[in-house]
Amino acid sequence: MLSTSKMPLPFRHLTSTKQLTRADTDAILQVAGEMEKVLGKGGDDRLRGKLLGSLFYEPSTRTRLSFETAMQRLGGDIVTADGLQFSSMYKGETIEDTMMVVGQYTDIICMRHPEQGSADRAAAVCPVPFINAGDGPGQHPTQALLDLFTIEKECKKLDGIHITMVGDLKFGRTVHSLSFLLGLYKDVRFTLVSPKELMMPPKVTSFFEEKKISFAQTEKLEEGLDADIVYMTRVQKERFEEVKQYEALKLKYVLTAEHLKGRKIVVLHPLPRVGEIAPDVDPLPNAAYFRQVRNGVVMRMALLAMLLGKA
Ligand code: CP
Repeated sequence: MLSTSKMPLPFRHLTSTKQLTRADTDAILQVAGEMEKVLGKGGDDRLRGKLLGSLFYEPSTRTRLSFETAMQRLGGDIVTADGLQFSSMYKGETIEDTMMVVGQYTDIICMRHPEQGSADRAAAVCPVPFINAGDGPGQHPTQALLDLFTIEKECKKLDGIHITMVGDLKFGRTVHSLSFLLGLYKDVRFTLVSPKELMMPPKVTSFFEEKKISFAQTEKLEEGLDADIVYMTRVQKERFEEVKQYEALKLKYVLTAEHLKGRKIVVLHPLPRVGEIAPDVDPLPNAAYFRQVRNGVVMRMALLAMLLGKA
């Protein structure tokens, strides 16, 4: 019988956390734990001869560099394209044709694109495994998986977790993806802190209602600080039509060391931060967001290896 980590994933493309089952996340978390040890030794060469197509049509530091680091730490190689203006999509080439072309060159593709739904379009035709690296305000499944891995490491549990999500819950794809993923676990509770203009959209709250998942909504940060995790997010400037509206909302919540006095709550943030977490939080043991960044490499090593059948 195959051990859990040798079992292939029951899908070829990863576009959304909604496609994952608890058996999938158990297997992925187990492989990520193994990859953490591999990374600790500097990597290995299980993906030698394999090529990742790394397509980023929207800005990225962490997702792009961690995918590329993960591929290279496992002995593979990369080809990259960045910025719509430097690709043939600028000349009108479709997402579908782009996949058919890049899929002739590479063994696996990750793509970030500004349009919600672009990942599903890409996966529908992609001749090699495809991973969504963020599709506009839609989904960011690899971020949610690395968040899940981080929560398990930091809190030593996933069932029974109380998580507070703060900031731009309307446009933040990371909180959407993570909500669906945590919905696979037992007795998870959510406190959702946002201004009225940036509340969690019905696609997520109706999921909570359907699954009978406990959630509370408030505009006050202080009401969310009795949780296990506080997940801060950036207000997504690029999703606003009017800069004035962004300016009015951008720093509604700033987490400081004062908020955390006497609390064990773990602070996460997908980053980049633009002022939502004060620098005086950085030296505190609560601050887990840079540990979370390293887990991004580990998780993407796991996903690349699993989707290429080399876990
Ligand atoms: N967390 C995240 O997606 O960061 P980047 O936008 O830098 O990739």
